[in-house]
Amino acid sequence: MSSPPHTPRSSPVPDVLVVGGGIVGLVTAWRAAQRGLLTALVDPEPGGGAAQVAAGMLAAVTELHYGEETLLALNLASARRYPGFAAELTELTGHDLGYRRCGTLAVALDADDRAHLRELHALQQRSGLESEWLSGRECRRLEPMLAPGVRGGLRVDGDHQIDPRRLARALVAACGHAGVVFHRVWAERLAVGRGDRATGVVTADGTVLEAGQVVLAGGSLSGRLAGVPEAVLPPVRPVKGQVLRLTMPPTPGPLLNRTVRAVVRGNHVYLVPRESGELVVGATSEELGWDTTVTAGGVYELLRDAHELVPGITELPLTETRAGLRPGSPDNAPLLGPTTLDGLLLATGHYRNGVLLTPVTGDVMADVLTGGELPRQARPFSPRRFGAAAALSEQPA
Ligand code: GLY
Repeated sequence: MSSPPHTPRSSPVPDVLVVGGGIVGLVTAWRAAQRGLLTALVDPEPGGGAAQVAAGMLAAVTELHYGEETLLALNLASARRYPGFAAELTELTGHDLGYRRCGTLAVALDADDRAHLRELHALQQRSGLESEWLSGRECRRLEPMLAPGVRGGLRVDGDHQIDPRRLARALVAACGHAGVVFHRVWAERLAVGRGDRATGVVTADGTVLEAGQVVLAGGSLSGRLAGVPEAVLPPVRPVKGQVLRLTMPPTPGPLLNRTVRAVVRGNHVYLVPRESGELVVGATSEELGWDTTVTAGGVYELLRDAHELVPGITELPLTETRAGLRPGSPDNAPLLGPTTLDGLLLATGHYRNGVLLTPVTGDVMADVLTGGELPRQARPFSPRRFGAAAALSEQPA
C-alpha cells in the first residue's frame, strides 16, 4: 500500500503554483512573482522541455497561415515586446539571450514554391505586414551562399531570432531573483478540494503542494496530468520536431546573414544562423505520439532540403541531432487563462510559437492571476473555447 500524501508544513501556501518549468511555465512564474504573488514551480528539471530543441525563430510574419489571423495579433503583440523583454532579462540576470534582429528570407526553389510564396506575400500584405518580394538574383545578393536555382523570395526584416536555451537559463535565473520556489520533482496528480476547486498537486513522492491557484504549463504533457477533470483537460497533443545543429566556421565571413527558410516538397525547412557560429536546421513535423527518436529519415530529409537551399552546408560539422515535442492544439493557438474548474488555469498549446509567445504569455498570465480577468488581447485564447460548454453554445438554435 502506498503511503498517504503529506503536506509540508514549514512554508506558507503560495498564491500560485506553476506546473511545468519550460519557458512558458518559467515566464508565468517570473511575472507572477514580480507582481507580488508568492509563487512556486514544480518540475524535475526547470529550463528543460521543447526550448532545448527549438530553433528560436520569432517568425510572426513568415509563419503566417490562412485562418490564423487572430493568432497573428497575439504573435505580433509578443514580437513587439521582445526588445524590452530581452533587455530586461539580460539586465536582471547578466545572461546574453542571443537575441538577433537579423531578419528572415523565405525563398522558393521551383514554380510551385514561388506560387505558394506569392500567395503568402498577398496574405501578408492584406494583413498589413511588412515583407518585400525579391527576385532570385536579389535573394542571392543578400545571401550569396544560396543555391543558384532559387527563384525568388520574401524579405522580412521584422522576423528575428533568439537562442531558446539561453532564454530558458535566463528565465530560471530570473525566477530565482524574484523568489520563485522550485520543487524539482514530477507533479503526479492535480489535487481537487471541496467545492470542486483545484488546491495544488500531489508530487511523485506523495507530497501535497498546496496553492491558491494552479497554472498547468506542461507543454505537450499538459493533457496528461492525472486528476484533471475530463471537461477541463487541455486538448493538447505532441507534434514531434527533429532539429539539427551544425557549426559554421568563423571565417572568411558568415555562411548566412539571416534566417533562411523554404517549403521544400511540402516540408518546412529553416536554417537559423547564430552569432556563436551555431547553425540550427529544422524541423520535421510528425504526429507520432510521445516518440522522440531521431531517425535516419528525419536527418536525411532535413539535410537534403537544407542542402537544396544552401549547398555549402555539407562542409559543416554536424554537432547535434535532437527531437522535441511541440504542444499542438486543435486551432494551433495557445490556451491561456482560467478553466471552468475554479483555481485551475492553463498556459499551454503554444504549438509552433512557444518562443515567440513567451513575453506576451508572461504578461497575460500575470494579469489574470492578479486580476482574475484575461486582458482583451488574450480573450480569444481562453481554454473555454474548447470543451463541452463551447460545443453546446455552437449547437444550432
Ligand atoms: N516554429 C518552428 C517550428 O515549430 O518548427
